[in-house]
Amino acid sequence: MRLTDCHNFHDFRTLARKRLPSPIYNYIDGAADDETTKARNTAAFDDVDLVPNVLRGVQDVDLSVTVMGQKLDLPVYCSPTALQRLFHHDGERAVAAAAEKFGTMFGVSSLGTVSIEELRRKHKTPQVYQFYFHRDRALNRAMMDRAKAAGVEVMMLTVDSITGGNRERDKRTGFSIPFRLNARGIAQFVLKPAWGLNYVTHEKFALPQLDEHVDMGGGTASIGQYFTEMLDPTMNWDDVAEMVQQWGGPFCLKGVMAPEDALRAADIGCSAVILSNHGGRQLDGSVSAFDQLAEVVQAAGDRIEVLMDGGVTRGTHVLKALSLGAKAVGLGRYYLLPLAAAGQPGVERALGLMKDELTRNMRLMGRARVADLSPDNLRMR
Ligand code: LAC
Repeated sequence: MRLTDCHNFHDFRTLARKRLPSPIYNYIDGAADDETTKARNTAAFDDVDLVPNVLRGVQDVDLSVTVMGQKLDLPVYCSPTALQRLFHHDGERAVAAAAEKFGTMFGVSSLGTVSIEELRRKHKTPQVYQFYFHRDRALNRAMMDRAKAAGVEVMMLTVDSITGGNRERDKRTGFSIPFRLNARGIAQFVLKPAWGLNYVTHEKFALPQLDEHVDMGGGTASIGQYFTEMLDPTMNWDDVAEMVQQWGGPFCLKGVMAPEDALRAADIGCSAVILSNHGGRQLDGSVSAFDQLAEVVQAAGDRIEVLMDGGVTRGTHVLKALSLGAKAVGLGRYYLLPLAAAGQPGVERALGLMKDELTRNMRLMGRARVADLSPDNLRMR
């Protein structure tokens, strides 16, 4: 199977599975507990159908949106995700370059493997910094100052991860950073020598956003420990209000689900909330972002921008979310598995397919601009 054989998300997932050692594949693909929320994230889109309008003469389709003051050519963006150079040796470099080519935003995680400065220097497209709230307030301030100095546009605070989710696939394979694999996990690495060769012949694994603050490479901390020991589970609205003031630019909360929390985010000066359950990787049994979207937009949409992510594998999923009032839609596994499968060309092909699907389906819907979509063009089953 080759990249040109990949015509949709499922094909990329199959190719990534062939290329990656199974502990890494399962880290990306897996979710919490029984993975019911992960499954619902995608299934939720099937409970709503699109109602097209015909004979409207749609030639050119404008897919651009403006979110948090950033003009994007597409209504989708690459959400920040951790550890990308572990999936493909180009990691964040490949994702940022592909996002720039498509004129959209990309995110860099606190657990990213390329520095925010390098990416900001090389690329012109808007950059988001995914932030975790640490117990050490001075560390939080230092990290925000650094992001500001680097010229990062948007601060995205993850609020659904005050403790790590129960990833049972990772328990079975022994996946952790640094690697502490059990015997079965190690055998899986031996089965994928090409990945191993790339890994050892490229720049050494590092977490440049954290390296000066946390010893993650010396065999002392796993990601689970980082979450439990370094992050502050007492983080509250007052703490975040202070951060919003300190940042002084576009600031959003990722992982909000309740309408009252979206209103509270507006009260403390956030520019946006991202409805998200972290790809089903945190609270299994929690609601899907798409299922929650209409309620939150209705309650808070006139006071704050509402975005969403989770389970998106098709352009029509995005059109349904935009119809319900999402200002943009985040992609996670949708670009990560193509990254793992084929690096930058993989991410570009995935974004290209998404753009084609969006353009084609907007025409079929009889819509020329994103703003032409509304709940009127949806029917609940
Ligand atoms: C995860 C964290 C690192 O979902 O975002 O694995």
